[in-house]
Amino acid sequence: MAAANPKIVGWAAWVLAGASALVSTQALADDIDAGRTKARACAVCHGPLGVAVAPETPNLAGQPANYLTTQLRAYRSGARKHEVMAVMAKPLTDADIEQLAAWFAAVRVEASSPR
Ligand code: HEC
Repeated sequence: MAAANPKIVGWAAWVLAGASALVSTQALADDIDAGRTKARACAVCHGPLGVAVAPETPNLAGQPANYLTTQLRAYRSGARKHEVMAVMAKPLTDADIEQLAAWFAAVRVEASSPR
C-alpha cells in the first residue's frame, strides 16, 4: 500500500474537524430552539426572554448554562428548596433542563452603568 499523502491526510482532518464543529453548533442551535419553546412555561414569572416580570423572581437571561442546569437539578432533587420551583422542576427531564439552560444562556444581555 502506498504511504498516505500527508497533504490529503491533513486536508481530511481539517474537513472532519470542520464537520464536527458544524454538528455541535447545530446541536446547540437545536437545544436553543427546543428550550425557547419549553420556556413558555416559565414566562409568566421569568418573562419570555428570561428578564423577570414577577416580584421576587430572578432573571435567567444570559446566566451561564452550567449555573442554570445546576439550579434546576437542585430544585428537582430538593437540594435547593422553593415551593414553586420544586413544582416547576419536578417533571423536567435532563434533556429539558439542558435545552432550557441553553435557551436562557443564549439570550444576549447588555449591562450599562446607571451613571
Ligand atoms: C410561578 C412563577 C415561576 C415560574 C412559572 C417559574 N419560575 Fe423559576 N423561579 C421563580 C422564583 C420565585 C424563583 C426564586 C426561587 C428561590 O428563591 O430559590 C425562581 C428561580 C429559578 C431559577 C434559579 C435562578 C437563580 O438565579 O438561581 C431557575 C434556574 C429557574 N427559576 C428556572 C425556571 C424555569 C426553567 C421555569 C420554567 C420551566 C421556571 N423557572 C418557572 C418563579 C417561577
